[in-house]
Amino acid sequence: MQIIDGKKISSEIKKEFAQRCAGIIDCGERAPHIAAILVGTDPASQSYVNSKEKAAKSVGFTSTVYKLDEKTTEKQLIELIDFLNEDDEVDGFIVQLPLPKHINTDKVINRINPKKDVDGFHPHNLGLMVTGDGVFFPATPLGIIKLLKRSGIEVEGKHCVVVGRSNIVGTPISIMLSRNFEYGNATVTICHSKTKNLEFYTKQADILIVAVGKPELIKGDMVKEGVVVIDVGIHRIPDDSEKGYHITGDVDFKEVSKKASHITPVPGGVGPMTIVSLLQNTLTAYEKFGKNK
Ligand code: GUN
Repeated sequence: MQIIDGKKISSEIKKEFAQRCAGIIDCGERAPHIAAILVGTDPASQSYVNSKEKAAKSVGFTSTVYKLDEKTTEKQLIELIDFLNEDDEVDGFIVQLPLPKHINTDKVINRINPKKDVDGFHPHNLGLMVTGDGVFFPATPLGIIKLLKRSGIEVEGKHCVVVGRSNIVGTPISIMLSRNFEYGNATVTICHSKTKNLEFYTKQADILIVAVGKPELIKGDMVKEGVVVIDVGIHRIPDDSEKGYHITGDVDFKEVSKKASHITPVPGGVGPMTIVSLLQNTLTAYEKFGKNK
């Protein structure tokens, strides 16, 4: 069994980005610039945004974070988005989700200039991905594809079973793996909350991608020998340890790792790759749309 080490792979990719960024600056051009908007004080969201900022700065990008009060109105948020849409010094930005309940998430995402949508969440970019003309791919699916690729795992002709159909992970990764892309051409089955007899499908997976948000849902008897397992879940489970909690994924690592040929750990698997993909999309925005403004 091999651990797919997202931390190691992501730091290799970050080194490559740092070199590209140094090259850009050596040519006398400004660095790529990513901005993030965080509304409220949700600890998980704060931690994600901090990690994104740290990663962006570590490769030499400029990073700006806008921290807005929980009570920010939709109108105020839209005004900031309009400002960033127009700012030639910002190549791309994200609005960290989830947003407070009084703000309409779809309206906010639709307002982002698709050329700056480095999360790849705008319907325009999702549409381009579906037709095979994608520019920005959602960060977690892009990170999963990079993980598989850099681990030497072929997907063409394989049966990929995706558990979860969220707009951020399950749906886009299913599309990306099934398209006639360089890294696609898989046969894909999507399972979700209404799927009957989940293990019937998970047992058939050559590659199992789990993004469902349920701690340790996938047990050892639900997979076949030699399966490749990508665990997107991350959960803090309270316990009696000194820290008061431990981290787990959507997969029962102890059981499933005994049968898997390759498996991602949680933490240190998919998480670091998501951030790297955001940097990749920022470089794309800079090179394709931003550089010579
Ligand atoms: N919340 C959880 N994951 C993500 C992500 O990839 N992007 C944004 N903007 N919010 C998130």
